[in-house]
Amino acid sequence: MKLLKLGILASGRGSNFQAIWNSIQAGKLHAQVQVVISNNADAGALDFARSQNLPAVHLERNQFDTKEAYVQAFLGILEQYAVNFIVLAGYMKLLSPEIVRVFRNRIINIHPALLPSFGGKGMYGHFVHKAVLDHGCKVSGVTVHLVNEAYDQGPIVAQQCVPVLAGDTPESLAERVLKVEHVIFSAALQLFAEERVEVIGRSTLIK
Ligand code: GRF
Repeated sequence: MKLLKLGILASGRGSNFQAIWNSIQAGKLHAQVQVVISNNADAGALDFARSQNLPAVHLERNQFDTKEAYVQAFLGILEQYAVNFIVLAGYMKLLSPEIVRVFRNRIINIHPALLPSFGGKGMYGHFVHKAVLDHGCKVSGVTVHLVNEAYDQGPIVAQQCVPVLAGDTPESLAERVLKVEHVIFSAALQLFAEERVEVIGRSTLIK
């Protein structure tokens, strides 16, 4: 088994990060958190990281004069903390192509719907669940996928359906979906620790 040395990237409250952290503590996920990085200084994810004495870094483009300096600093932090796998846990920025290249097939994201539907730029949070309801879908779900250069288009690693119920609001659906996210994300990561994920073109084979 391979120890995943995680770099967690999160922009918001960080409940997925906390679920991953809990899985590690419970011995269900063979990983350790090396550093938590957020583009948002007020992210709950950074607060939680600090509460656990984990390195927590606020990093965003406007702290640097050039995009190149920003990307170099980003890569430098990942190297400094010996990150070997990146987890996008509610990270609202597109990762720069340089980072995707260096960590090819070692970056995963979670999306609160069944990709390739309801993904892409602008499809996040409330907007996803509202679109699912506006389409009258009877199921939604969760997708964990590898990250490539385009939003929500990398090879899918795991998916799970979540029913849409009569009277659902974006909020009630989001809550039901989030519960599944908290289970499936750690489980998908553990597949990488067990080296069971083979990438074949646009898809993955779980061995
Ligand atoms: C989750 O719904 C996730 O699917 C999406 O952003 C949200 C992050 O929630 N990518 P949290 O910050 O992990 O609580």
